[in-house]
Amino acid sequence: MQIDILTIFPDMFDGPFSHSIIKRAKEKGIITINLHNIRDYTTDKHHSVDDYPYGGGAGMVMMIEPVCRLIENLKAKTSYDEIIYMSPDGELLGQKLANRLSLLKNMIILCGHYKGIDERIREHLVTMEISIGDYVLSGGELAAAVLTDTIVRIIPGAMGDEASALSDSYQDDLISPPVYTRPYDFNGWKAPDVLLSGNEKEINKWRNEKSIERTKQRRPRLLDD
Ligand code: ADE
Repeated sequence: MQIDILTIFPDMFDGPFSHSIIKRAKEKGIITINLHNIRDYTTDKHHSVDDYPYGGGAGMVMMIEPVCRLIENLKAKTSYDEIIYMSPDGELLGQKLANRLSLLKNMIILCGHYKGIDERIREHLVTMEISIGDYVLSGGELAAAVLTDTIVRIIPGAMGDEASALSDSYQDDLISPPVYTRPYDFNGWKAPDVLLSGNEKEINKWRNEKSIERTKQRRPRLLDD
């Protein structure tokens, strides 16, 4: 999978993309992430990427020209499955959407800033808009990093243990059961005996019961769906 991220702060991705599963997926060649600085596609001497909103009002608006120039440049080389704009009013990111996006061959992720981006970018260039939650971040970069992580970790081969992605919370509309490791007894806080019993059938039964119990308590709407 090829992911092209369009941003005015490419350095913000250094941390999230150089550790753990994303780092390994890049090293294994499972994904290629290209970071593009929108500012490199400006033509004026100040390298402006934003301007005052027509009609007045607070905040600046990200301009169409540099973003369009960059997207056209990329589209000349690659045919993209989706051009995604990270926005607080986009479709809410959930596991099902992440699963669907993990099957794509390539995508552009556009990070906005300031008061927003010129609406014509959304109308004519973007193919889908995604939000990571009903709150407003300072920009789309953190949201793009979250989206990339949820997608990459479920691409076959990205995780060491294939079964582990399938048993994630939300994958089967259930919250994962609690997990324990050594020591068995920590200051009198004991791990459940059934997990040490070696009886696979009983262990699976216990895990399933705990999953349903947790889902009822924490995300009851998943059981309604
Ligand atoms: N940009 C700013 N806030 C955002 C959010 N909640 N989700 C996606 N992109 C955003």
